[in-house]
Amino acid sequence: CGITGYIGFREAYPIVVKGLERLEYRGYDSAGIMMFDGENIQISKTKGKVADLKKITDSEESRKKGTIGIGHTRWATHGVPNDINSHPHSSMSGDLVIVHNGIIENYDTLKKELITRGYVFQSDTDTEVLVNLIEEVKKQEGCKLGKAVQIALNQVIGAYAIAVFDKTKPNEIVVARLGSPIAIGIGKDNKEFFVASDASPFIEYTKEAIYLEDEEMAIIKLDKGIRVRKIKDDSLVVTNIQKLQLSLEQIEKGGYEHFMLKEIHEQPKAIIDTYRGRMLADQGIIKMAGVDDHLEKFLNADRIIIVACGTSWHAGLVAEYLFEDIARIPVEVEYASEFRYRNPIITDKDIVIAISQSGETADTLAAIKLAKSKGAFVFGVCNVVGSSIARETHAGAYTHAGPEIGVASTKAFTTQITVLSLIALKLGKAKGKISNSLFHSHLQTLQLIPKKIEELLAIDDQVKHIASVYKNATNCLYLGRGFNFPVALEGALKLKEISYIHAEGYPAAEMKHGPIALIDENMPIIVIATSKGHYEKVVSNIQEIKSRSGKIIAIVTQGDTTVKEIADHTIEIPETEEAFTPLLTTIPLQLLSYHIAVFLGRNVDQPRNLAKSVTVE
Ligand code: G6P
Repeated sequence: CGITGYIGFREAYPIVVKGLERLEYRGYDSAGIMMFDGENIQISKTKGKVADLKKITDSEESRKKGTIGIGHTRWATHGVPNDINSHPHSSMSGDLVIVHNGIIENYDTLKKELITRGYVFQSDTDTEVLVNLIEEVKKQEGCKLGKAVQIALNQVIGAYAIAVFDKTKPNEIVVARLGSPIAIGIGKDNKEFFVASDASPFIEYTKEAIYLEDEEMAIIKLDKGIRVRKIKDDSLVVTNIQKLQLSLEQIEKGGYEHFMLKEIHEQPKAIIDTYRGRMLADQGIIKMAGVDDHLEKFLNADRIIIVACGTSWHAGLVAEYLFEDIARIPVEVEYASEFRYRNPIITDKDIVIAISQSGETADTLAAIKLAKSKGAFVFGVCNVVGSSIARETHAGAYTHAGPEIGVASTKAFTTQITVLSLIALKLGKAKGKISNSLFHSHLQTLQLIPKKIEELLAIDDQVKHIASVYKNATNCLYLGRGFNFPVALEGALKLKEISYIHAEGYPAAEMKHGPIALIDENMPIIVIATSKGHYEKVVSNIQEIKSRSGKIIAIVTQGDTTVKEIADHTIEIPETEEAFTPLLTTIPLQLLSYHIAVFLGRNVDQPRNLAKSVTVE
């Protein structure tokens, strides 16, 4: 979910609503706002997207008045996405209003207790329980909002980012965080403040922000500014004001029809940004402070465990091949959600690498905490600067891909692979596992990748045509081997996510152990058959598909002739070292799912039921 708020001297409505649009990547099952016009609280909320909310609120003049407001865009956890379960939620008296991101795990116990005290609930949400708990504490203790929030949060088990408003104290907003992010923007002359799940809602107003740490809360008063305290013991926290790097241009579509398409096209630049200052190909040097500062640890590690979710997990799988092949270090790749709950064996000789675009994924964050508690050194590969995972890890390397807004991850994936390739090469060299000449030639090869992606993007029309042929498929199979097996998984995930067509990725040779039963003349099968990756074996797999009448879309190296004769369609990628082909083979797969989704009229940037940043487990 995304939360946002404003307190200051400007009209709050346009700021809050625009903020919600920018935060919609975090969830878009429902949206709502609260405006306070100096006397009355007005809440508008609805199932659906911010655009649906705007249809209601834009026409109501009165909603636009007032210089205080909070808003929410929801990814449903407790309670179906309907109008009533949408945020904001108010307390029974109507005085307190809350927006909440996260899950209150003990809400049922708290709710029962509140019911015995006469509280009546409108919604099925855990959030309405929390706002009434705050109200009850306020009543019992006779305290102010900030204190009541603090006492209530100490009774809560779960995760949250909240913003609370109290009609009886209308010059303040109270925010708090545990597990879900909160940024506070400090506006003009300290006379206006913004709150949001990330800095994008207020980027045009201020470049100064405070990020709350876990178990911290802030009381934001119009006249007195921001005061941050520890939720547990009430101690005051010395805040660190950060200068934001984000620009407005970066979070807008820049002429593309969708963010996803823009982000696909940004990949050459994003990869250059990733290795800029790190890979000095001419000098044969890779500089990465996060690795250099802890090189001994890396060199002495027994193994590397990679934890991640979704697309980041696929980048982890590519890294497994890279690390084992180039640096000869044993690697295990785990879904963060499995790792954290299966009592894993971790020692202080293990290095855990956590990969996350957002740096906020709840399961990945929890896996990091577990690994740290067992003594492992934890290294983060994140895109969002200053994110929770970036802060929670011992060291790390940012991907520098720039903001990724489309829910389906594209440039985050290729830049993650770029960072991981650099680490693998660096360790391979430091451990003496690859020769100097191979190291040098790998750097040269990597340096050419952005240009090759640029070249490859010119196949867009061809891919669009293929998409038009297969847009009505109900099942798709993606096959790859070696370095391109994870790419097959990622290709299938992309298609599922944005077109809602069922797709599976498989190691090409495993096809005969199951998926082959699905093949008929209606089934498109996308096969990655680059010329150095067990090519003959993949060609045999393609023959097996052909003899069962499957439709073959093959990704081949430029100049290929063998596969061209068998496949129904071939997409050529420029030649490169096999280890780095994922950076190229992935591009046509992104475009294919993009075009199919557009043909089907899907919401490409905000596919149903998904969210970009999953801050609940
Ligand atoms: C969500 C997103 C995916 C992403 C995954 C992990 O499911 O929709 O695109 O790969 O979370 O997110 P992270 O930010 O940790 O990479």
